[in-house]
Amino acid sequence: MATNAISAGASANAPDDSFPLFSTFQIGGVALKNRLVLSPMCTYSARGGMVDDFHLAHLAKFAMGGFGLVMTEATAVTRDGRITHGDLGIWQDEQVHGMRRITDLIHTLGAKAGIQLAHAGRKASMQRPWDGNGPLDHRDVARGERAWEIVGPGTEPMELGWLSPRALSQPELTTLVERWKHAAARAEAAGFDVIEIHAAHGYLLHQFLSPLANSRTDHYGGTLENRMRLALEVVAAVREVWPARKPLFFRVSATDAADGGWSLEDSAVLATALQALGVDVVDCSSGGVAAPQASTGLPRSLGFQVPLARSIKDEVGIATMAVGLIVDAHQANDIVASGAADLVAIGRAALHDPHWPLHAQENLQPAVGYAGWPQPYGWWLERRKKVLQAALSAADRRGATPLV
Ligand SMILES: Cc1cc2nc3c(=O)[nH]c(=O)nc-3n(C[C@H](O)[C@H](O)[C@H](O)COP(=O)(O)O)c2cc1C
Repeated sequence: MATNAISAGASANAPDDSFPLFSTFQIGGVALKNRLVLSPMCTYSARGGMVDDFHLAHLAKFAMGGFGLVMTEATAVTRDGRITHGDLGIWQDEQVHGMRRITDLIHTLGAKAGIQLAHAGRKASMQRPWDGNGPLDHRDVARGERAWEIVGPGTEPMELGWLSPRALSQPELTTLVERWKHAAARAEAAGFDVIEIHAAHGYLLHQFLSPLANSRTDHYGGTLENRMRLALEVVAAVREVWPARKPLFFRVSATDAADGGWSLEDSAVLATALQALGVDVVDCSSGGVAAPQASTGLPRSLGFQVPLARSIKDEVGIATMAVGLIVDAHQANDIVASGAADLVAIGRAALHDPHWPLHAQENLQPAVGYAGWPQPYGWWLERRKKVLQAALSAADRRGATPLV
């Protein structure tokens, strides 16, 4: 669908060497207008895995807010691969129409659209965070939300008292890889520009990667090569149907940061194999495989995962995306300028301010003004500037901070 008059103005994204955050990024046949990506974030608001108006309104805000790439929340490749009853899905053709509404809308608003494909494995059949964030129980059943059989590399539950998964057999793994492939074909039919494979945060593919969750003795467990097998089979299957010119991202928990867990060195080996299979960007997160109280994890300082992205980029020579407590325009720009990562994903800061990229640009490049804003906003805001300055300096605001 053609970009219309309310798209963010392209001129505001003209390359500026001091602010590479706002330079374009060409990956294969897709050009992102800047380096800012809306990080995938579950909203737990779907019914039956279907897109509805909430998802459209939610994602449109970030496209209007100036993100170069807007990524959907984790979207399940099978019904039982949902984390909660509220997850989006792309396990059947009926779900393509809603997804097409998302891509059309995001394109109309001047951004590219990405979809994160996911399977929760032993972390499936959970309550929404605000319903308890644990395994589904009698209170959920009373609301009509029953638990379902979950699967994983083995039969160990995520945590004591949680559902025990059924260990996936080898024929089931073959079928599952096909399901990822079908989901990717549907993502193409729906018009997405980018697919991200979710292999982080303790979900199914991470469960196979990490020795903390994978105690299999067949050729999907044991050695690093065996533990990587499922993820690599999924990538190869997705690449078979995902056009070569379209970027493929892979989100990894680059370290479990726990004794005996998946390490940054393992991630470098994995990233090399991913690159050979046609992955374009490694999105570097961390943790999530073990129960929070059992896992140490990295200390949560600002940008705490950026060194992971830098390390993989330097060692493997693949493009990376940094994520996690990136909150400030200068911080984000420095990540790209210093070569630590090619892309910066913003999560909760975007929930707080969907216009985060436009505000970041205002902050870094005041001379650009409101040129990057949707025209029906920018025209007025530009003209308000002088009036507002005068009014604020004249007003007796008794210490209050205006939300301007
Ligand atoms: C409400 C919420 C939902 C999330 N859902 C997902 C998800 O679907 N897939 C994923 O890979 N990460 C998910 N995450 C993690 C975010 O993508 C991001 O990595 C994390 O919030 C750290 O970035 P931030 O500090 O900018 O929020 C979620 C985070 C939040 C807060």
